[in-house]
Amino acid sequence: MRLIDNFIDGSWQSPDSSKRAPNINPADTRETIAEAPLSTSVDVAEAVKAAERAFPGWRATPAPKRGHLLYRVQRKMEERRNELAEALTREEGKTVTESHGEVQRAINVVEFFAAESRRINGETIPSEFPNNFCYTVREPVGPLALITPWNFPVAIPMWKLAPAIAYGNTVVLKPASLTPLSAALIAEIFNECDTPAGVLNIVYGSGRNVGEPLVAHPSIKGVSFTGSNDVGASLYGTGAARGIKCQCEMGGKNPIIVLEDADLELAVNSAVQGAYGSTGQRCTATSRAVVVESIADAFVERVEERVNALVVGNGLEPETDMGPSVDKQQLETVLDFINIGQKEGAQLITGGKLLATEMHKHGFFIEPSLFDHVTSDMRIAQEEIFGPVLSVLRVPDTATALSVANDVRYGLTASIYTRDISKALTFTDKLQVGIVHVNSPTVGGEAHIPFGGMKATGVGTREMGREAIAFFTELKVVYWDYTGSNRKGNLY
Ligand code: UN1
Repeated sequence: MRLIDNFIDGSWQSPDSSKRAPNINPADTRETIAEAPLSTSVDVAEAVKAAERAFPGWRATPAPKRGHLLYRVQRKMEERRNELAEALTREEGKTVTESHGEVQRAINVVEFFAAESRRINGETIPSEFPNNFCYTVREPVGPLALITPWNFPVAIPMWKLAPAIAYGNTVVLKPASLTPLSAALIAEIFNECDTPAGVLNIVYGSGRNVGEPLVAHPSIKGVSFTGSNDVGASLYGTGAARGIKCQCEMGGKNPIIVLEDADLELAVNSAVQGAYGSTGQRCTATSRAVVVESIADAFVERVEERVNALVVGNGLEPETDMGPSVDKQQLETVLDFINIGQKEGAQLITGGKLLATEMHKHGFFIEPSLFDHVTSDMRIAQEEIFGPVLSVLRVPDTATALSVANDVRYGLTASIYTRDISKALTFTDKLQVGIVHVNSPTVGGEAHIPFGGMKATGVGTREMGREAIAFFTELKVVYWDYTGSNRKGNLY
């Protein structure tokens, strides 16, 4: 068992309080993988002080040099990919194949932002006055707070850290309490790559004792958060009151829309991958299938067949298709929603029960579940479950499919399955989401492509891709009158 410390000012530091939280393997709760600090605002203050001290030097470091650090990190992650993937599976539960996918995605993100360090361009804008030179520059923001969830404990920290660091900011990262080991490995990697002290700081602990004081700290100039809507709304409130930059990526209730002319096999594959991959624990998970009535029986039948064939088990076993829920609380939430769905009158086609066989009884395992005849007014059609549950909503026609797809408070991703170009374009135009997939699953995304949602899913500018520059830099405009003679009496 590993004893994890906070990583502050370039070294591992023991926390203010001796209280620690166990890091438990959700596939086998007999295994405690690590213990991580339950830090206090004293540790937060230390970390912010280190980030603040390091900021002027990092800001003044030429951007391509900052990029070199990220290239070193990329190479180190490639060397340690198996270790990262295995640790991820042990603490989060996803299958090792999924973990490898996540680690590769994190590597891609680091590679992309390493290269972006050479492209922190502004623009020149011709003035309406003679002899005036106007241009923009992108500057680092300052010490930033990064608050990340347990479901992508390698990729999400990296997709916030890499742009933050490339664009010249220093950071304090608060990783999710359930997955401290991945963050410790990230700190180790940065440490081995000669990261200047204070550029990356990690403080472990609860949202209340670490996240809140961090965002409220007067030296923190921006917060990038991924997690639940309740926490995001509260952090956004604190950040807004302080007038700092905030970027929150929150829940989703993503639909796959299957029209009459869809390639049914493709749509079924996509629904299964999107709903049950990562045990449904991703904000892009497919949680609703909006299916036109004429093909709904065939769709449900095929999905059911596929769901019943899924092997649920320890993610480290190669034959496993689906791992456990991350902890007891998450498991109970899923069970609650299964009860709620049945009470609301939805038809449970398959799944819904805890798995208690010899190989399952020490973990948080639940059967992958499928509901049919769900309607938009039901809670299982509206609320984020964050578990392996797919709800089929039958609709009479294409127009109703569109309105049902949009009839939720969230707006992250949506998939449309059709062979009709006109319908595909109509849906891409009218779907109220940040990411539309045509004939591809609701999940996933590429390192160099912006990511984020509309409506209750997101506030602030998008993460990843070239869009990340909007959050991770400040824009400065320069007006330069180089003769000093032509503005007389002419200022608007
Ligand atoms: C993905 O689906 O590829 O917390 C990534 C989440 C998202 C990341 C999803 N922010 O699940």
